[in-house]
Amino acid sequence: MVQVDRQTLLFFIIMFIFLSLPSGHDQPHSTKERETLVTFQQQLLDGQDELALSNYTSGYGNLTGFHLSYQDLLDGKTEQDWPIHKYGPDNLWIEDEKDSLLPNKVSNKVKEFWGIDKVEKEDGGRAYLLNISGRANGEFEQLKLTKLQLFDLKLPQYLKDYYDKNKDKENEKENKDNNKNTDDDIISKIGNITKSTGKISINVKSYGYNFQNPEFTKFIVNKTTDTVDDAMVVHLKLNLKDYEEIEDHEFETKGVYFQKTGSLITITRSAKFLGNHGLSHLTLNESNFNKSRILMGQLLNTSDIRHDFSMDDMNGYIIKSQEQCEMISYFQFEKTDYNWDQLRLIDEELMNPNGKPIPHDLPPLSIKDYLIYSPDCGIVLTKKPDIPFVGLKVEVLNKKLRYLLMGILLLVIIQLLLFLRQIKQARTPGQLSTIASKTLFIIGFQDSLIALMFLLISTLVEDLYLLLACVAVISFIMCGIFELRFMVSVLSTQVNERGTTWWEILRGGSRNEGETTTTTTTTTTNDTGPILPIANTPAPVTPVAPGPTVAPGWEEASFSNSIFAGGFSLTIIATFLLLNSLVWRIQYRRIFEYVGLIGLNSYWIPQFLRNTLKNKRKSFTWEFIFGTSIIRLLPIYYFNLVKSNPLRHHYDPILVIIITIWMIIQLTLLILQYQLGARFWVNEKWLPKAYDYQRIIHFKDLETGFSSEILNSLSNNISNNDVEEIIESQCTCPICMNEITLPIINDMYDKDGTNENELKKMKKDYMITPCYHIFHSDCLENWMKYKLQCPVCRESLPPI
Ligand SMILES: *[C@@H]1O[C@H](CO)[C@@H](O)[C@H](O)[C@H]1NC(C)=O
Ligand SMILES: *[C@@H]1O[C@H](CO)[C@@H](O)[C@H](O)[C@H]1NC(C)=O
Ligand SMILES: *[C@@H]1O[C@H](CO)[C@@H](O)[C@H](O)[C@H]1NC(C)=O
Ligand SMILES: *[C@@H]1O[C@H](CO)[C@@H](O)[C@H](O)[C@H]1NC(C)=O
Ligand SMILES: *[C@@H]1O[C@H](CO)[C@@H](O)[C@H](O)[C@H]1NC(C)=O
Ligand SMILES: *[C@@H]1O[C@H](CO)[C@@H](O)[C@H](O)[C@H]1NC(C)=O
Ligand SMILES: *[C@@H]1O[C@H](CO)[C@@H](O)[C@H](O)[C@H]1NC(C)=O
Ligand SMILES: *[C@@H]1O[C@H](CO)[C@@H](O)[C@H](O)[C@H]1NC(C)=O
Ligand SMILES: [Zn+2]
Ligand SMILES: [Zn+2]
Repeated sequence: MVQVDRQTLLFFIIMFIFLSLPSGHDQPHSTKERETLVTFQQQLLDGQDELALSNYTSGYGNLTGFHLSYQDLLDGKTEQDWPIHKYGPDNLWIEDEKDSLLPNKVSNKVKEFWGIDKVEKEDGGRAYLLNISGRANGEFEQLKLTKLQLFDLKLPQYLKDYYDKNKDKENEKENKDNNKNTDDDIISKIGNITKSTGKISINVKSYGYNFQNPEFTKFIVNKTTDTVDDAMVVHLKLNLKDYEEIEDHEFETKGVYFQKTGSLITITRSAKFLGNHGLSHLTLNESNFNKSRILMGQLLNTSDIRHDFSMDDMNGYIIKSQEQCEMISYFQFEKTDYNWDQLRLIDEELMNPNGKPIPHDLPPLSIKDYLIYSPDCGIVLTKKPDIPFVGLKVEVLNKKLRYLLMGILLLVIIQLLLFLRQIKQARTPGQLSTIASKTLFIIGFQDSLIALMFLLISTLVEDLYLLLACVAVISFIMCGIFELRFMVSVLSTQVNERGTTWWEILRGGSRNEGETTTTTTTTTTNDTGPILPIANTPAPVTPVAPGPTVAPGWEEASFSNSIFAGGFSLTIIATFLLLNSLVWRIQYRRIFEYVGLIGLNSYWIPQFLRNTLKNKRKSFTWEFIFGTSIIRLLPIYYFNLVKSNPLRHHYDPILVIIITIWMIIQLTLLILQYQLGARFWVNEKWLPKAYDYQRIIHFKDLETGFSSEILNSLSNNISNNDVEEIIESQCTCPICMNEITLPIINDMYDKDGTNENELKKMKKDYMITPCYHIFHSDCLENWMKYKLQCPVCRESLPPI
C-alpha cells in the first residue's frame, strides 16, 4: 500500500500547485509610483464622469484617445490642440468624420449592414438572439481603404515617463546580463495583421445586467430610469489568425449587444485609448448611445477604482497600450427562426432547466456581416464573402461537450473492466512472463496523460467539472493502481531473465544458438564438470503452498517506485508539451500530432517482439487486445472525422487512415503469430532457441551436468545394453518421489531406423530443467503454474 499513498500524495501536490498560482496585487514601491497610480486612477474616474455627464450631441469629452476627430487628424491637429471644437446648441456633435473618430469610409460601410434591420417585440416576427453567449468561427479579408490616415495614439505624458523609466531599468538589467542591445520596439503589434485573409473566431459572454440579476442591481442607481431592457453588456474575445497560424492575435474587448437590431459593438481599451468610456459615441445613433451610455457606465461602476485598481492593473493598461492595436468591431447577427417570446423561453429554460419544452435544434450564433477597424494601425477587416461565420450558443456547446465526456467516461470504464478481466486471466507467473511490460507502459502512459489533462481542464471548466473529474479519477485509478500493479507483477516475474532481450541478441547473444543448454540459465556454471555441486540424491521437495507472489517484496517496491517516478515525470513532460503545442504553428502541431499519435498507438509492437522472443503465440486475451485497440481508436476517429466536434479539431482523414492502417498491421501481426507461430517472420537461427523441456538426451550429453543418480542408474544398464538404440534409465521425480523412465539415445548404436514413435511417446512423460533436474511433466507443469523456479535448486525456469 505504500506506493498508493505516495501516489495520492503526489496527486494532491499537483492539484495544490495549480490552485495556488499567485494572484498578484502589487503595491507601489515608491511615492513616485504611488503618485502615478493615483493620477491614473483619477484619469479613469474622470473618464467615468465624462461618460455619465455626456449626451449624444456633446461629443466624447476629455477622454484619452478620443481627442481628435478623423478630420482633425487630416488637418494635422495634435493632442495638444485639444479642445478643438466647442459643442453647444448651435454646434451639435454628429456622426461624421468632422466630429467622429470614425472615418466616413469606415462608418458608411458599417451603416450598410449594422443595426438597420429592427425587430419589434410585438410583431411576433423572427427575432435576433437575445443571449449571444457562445462561440463562432469564420474567416476575414482585409479591406485596403485608400489613404486611411493612422491615429497616433499616445500615452499621457506622466505614464510615458513612468513607462520609459521602467523600460530603461529593464534594458539596463538585460544589457548587464548578456551585453547586447535589446531594442525590440519594432516588433509588430498584436492585431497588425499582414496577411490579407485569415481565420477569425469569437468567444462571447453576455452579462446579465439587464435581466435584473441581484448581483448587479446595486450598480443601477435609479432603476426606473436607468434600466435598459433590450441591450446588454458583452465581453468578447476576438482571435485573428492567418491560415498557417504564423500570426495569431487575440484581444479582449467589451461592448454592447442590441437585441432588437441584432447588432453588437465591442472595443479594446488601454492606457492610450479609453475604449470602454468612449464606446457609446461610436454606436452611430442617439438611441443606441443612450442605452450603451447607461450600460457601459454600469459596467465601469462594477469596480471600485480607488480601492481595487492596483499597480498590476495599471501596468496591464500600459503594456496593452504598447503592444496592441486598438480595435473597434461591429458585428451584425442573422435573424433566428423564432420570435422574441420563444427565444426568451428558450433562454430561460437553458439557464434554469426545469423541463419546459424547447425546440430540439437551438438557434446557432450566425453572423451576417462584420467590420473591424483599428484607428491606430489602419486595419479594416470584414467578412470573407460566401464563407459562413457561425457557431453555437454556449449551452449547446456545453451539452455537446457533456455528451462527449459521457462517451469518454463510458470508454474509460469499459477499458477498466477489460483491464480487470485481463488481470484475472493472467495471474500465474507463466502467463505473466509472456506479457510485454512496454506494452503495459505505453497503455498506462496514455491513461496517466488522460488523467492529468482532464484534471487540469477540470480546474478550468466549472460547468463540466464533475464529468471531467470522473474521467480523471477513473483513468488515474486505472493507471496508478491497476496498470502499475500489473506491470510490477510482470516485471518481477521477468526480473531474472537473461539472454532474451533484443539488446543482448543484437550484441551477439545469437552466437550461442547451437547450445540450447545455455539459453536461460543464469548463474549455473555449466562447464565445471559433469556433476553439479548440488546434493547427489535430491531430498524430497514439498511444493510450497502456491501463491501469486513471485519476487521478494523489496523488488516490487523498487519497481513500482521507479515506474511511478519515470512514468510520472514523462507524463508531466508530455502534458507540458501538449499544452505548449496548442500555441505552435499549425504545421508543427500537425507533425507533433502525427508523431505523438503514431507513437502512442504502437503499443502492440513490444508484445509482438516479446512473443517472438519467448516463442509464445499468445499473451493478452483477444478480448483485451481488440477492446483496448477499439476504445483507444474511437476518440481519434471522432475528433478527426466529425467536423462539428466541440473541440474544433480540424477534419483530418489522412491521420485516421494512417493510424487505422498502423493498428491493423499490429493486430494482423499478432493474429499471424497466433496462427503461424510466434517466429513466423524471422529466421529461427537468429534467435535464441526457446528452451525445450522435453529434449532428448544423447549419451554424450550425460557428461555435461546431470546428477550422479542418473549416471549410476545408467551404469547398471549400460553394460548389457550397448547394443540397444535406446537405453532406458530410471530416476526419481523430486516432486512426487515416483520413478521416471528416461530414454537415452545410444550414440554408439549405429544401425539405421530409430524408433521415432516410441521416443515421442516417452518424451511426453518427463521434463528436464535447464539446471539438469528431471521431473514428471505433470508434476513440473503444475508447479510452474505458481512458481517459475526449479523446485530443487530454485534456479529460475523459462516459461513453457
Ligand atoms: C483632461 O483629462 C486629463 C486627465 O484626466 C487631465 O489631466 C486634463 O487636465 C484634462 N484636460 C482638460 C482640458 O480638462
Ligand atoms: C448635452 O450636454 C450639454 C453640455 O454637456 C448641454 O448643454 C446640453 O443641454 C445637453 N443636451 C441635452 C439634450 O441634454
Ligand atoms: C438608429 O435608431 C433608430 C431608432 O432606434 C433605428 O431604427 C435605426 O435603425 C438606427 N440606425 C442606425 C444606423 O443604427
Ligand atoms: C446568457 O447565457 C449565459 C450562459 O447561460 C449566462 O451565463 C448569462 O447570464 C446569460 N446572459 C443573460 C443576459 O441572460
Ligand atoms: C429616479 O428617476 C425618477 C424619474 O426620473 C425620479 O422621479 C426619481 O426621483 C429618481 N430616483 C432617484 C433615487 O434618483
Ligand atoms: C437620449 O437621452 C436623452 C436624455 O438623456 C433624451 O433627451 C433623448 O431624447 C434620448 N434619445 C433617444 C433617441 O432616446
Ligand atoms: C456609478 O456609481 C456612482 C456612485 O456610486 C453613481 O453616482 C453613478 O451614477 C453610477 N453610474 C451609473 C451609470 O450607474
Ligand atoms: C504594422 O505592420 C506593418 C508591416 O509589417 C508595419 O509597416 C507597420 O509599421 C506596423 N504598424 C504598427 C502600428 O505596428
Ligand atoms: Zn512426479
Ligand atoms: Zn534445478
